[in-house]
Amino acid sequence: MVRAKRRLSVVRCSAATAVGVRSCSALPFTTPQRFDRLTGIMLDMEPNLRDRIASLKWVHTIDFGNGIVSRGQWGPPNPLIVRAFSEIDFTGKKVLDIGCWDGLWSFEAERRGAREVVATDYTSQRSFQGQPTFAVAAEALHSRAKYHPDVSVYDVKEKLQAGLDFDVVIFCGIYYHLKNPLLALARLREVMKEGGILVVEGAVINNLAETSARFFYRERLHRDASNWWLPTVACLREWVECSFFDVLKEYGPPGDLGKKPSVKRRIKALLNIKECGHITRYVLTARATCRKDPNYSFPDDDLRPFDLNEYPIEGPNWKWFKVRRLGKSLLGKAKMFGRA
Ligand SMILES: C[S@@+](CC[C@H](N)C(=O)[O-])C[C@H]1O[C@@H](n2cnc3c(N)ncnc32)[C@H](O)[C@@H]1O
Repeated sequence: MVRAKRRLSVVRCSAATAVGVRSCSALPFTTPQRFDRLTGIMLDMEPNLRDRIASLKWVHTIDFGNGIVSRGQWGPPNPLIVRAFSEIDFTGKKVLDIGCWDGLWSFEAERRGAREVVATDYTSQRSFQGQPTFAVAAEALHSRAKYHPDVSVYDVKEKLQAGLDFDVVIFCGIYYHLKNPLLALARLREVMKEGGILVVEGAVINNLAETSARFFYRERLHRDASNWWLPTVACLREWVECSFFDVLKEYGPPGDLGKKPSVKRRIKALLNIKECGHITRYVLTARATCRKDPNYSFPDDDLRPFDLNEYPIEGPNWKWFKVRRLGKSLLGKAKMFGRA
């Protein structure tokens, strides 16, 4: 996984001076401490549950309240996703989380008011498979999220049978682990309401203009064979847009995108050491849409229900159809150029 490794443990914030202990205030959101309604006494977590949290291997840093925080290998929650979440109204929404791992983003959606959270993972595709972290976290947080550990993103519609009306889909840290990211986006569009919000997060090449993606098979990205694709920012946008989503907002590291290459990168280039360009994390939010799309010549079977194009068979209108489509496509490109 494209993440930094960290030591695992569970910490109590009150012991913040001990070596390796991080203060809870470092987290962007915290679960409130629990109090007994009658006596007003602070309820501590059941010691057994606290020990179970401490004994597991976590990737997510989850705040369980009362000062108990899992020491996730990936450190504090990604601030870009936190920013995107804070601009989405989760109240009363039906949410699907793809590849949820320990469940941080599912629990966060629930904490922000989601009515129903369906948390999926495909645990055969990750490390720490025997760690029941989602179940333990759900118990500690009294979560009502439904967990499905064996559902691939490609099978959400068939395997979940959860309806085609998700309001929000969380697709964080996944697309670059897939051989078919475009098929995955089509599968997600299928289970979303028109107007639903998709949150996409992942590794990108810092390039706002070029629409290309690097493929990793023999060569490894970050020595991790589970990484298949690395798109540029512009390519990720187009992957999302061509799957019948309209991009709403983008979140990149401040001052990072479009930055000049670092000295280290320039030295590497001088020494002819192969590298992928400047890699960073990026978040897009996009709205599920139905529309005419001038960039399609022929219908895509997976996306046909959302595509309002008329595809005339060759005849007297065919030439005009092609001229109109070319005009619209050029207009789209001009808009994109303005945005980049
Ligand atoms: C980098 S982790 C991301 C975890 C979490 N979504 C986050 O952003 O913190 C990648 C996750 O993708 C899941 N995964 C890999 N292939 C998948 C697939 N085909 N369908 C669904 N999930 C998949 C893995 O099991 C793992 O939980």
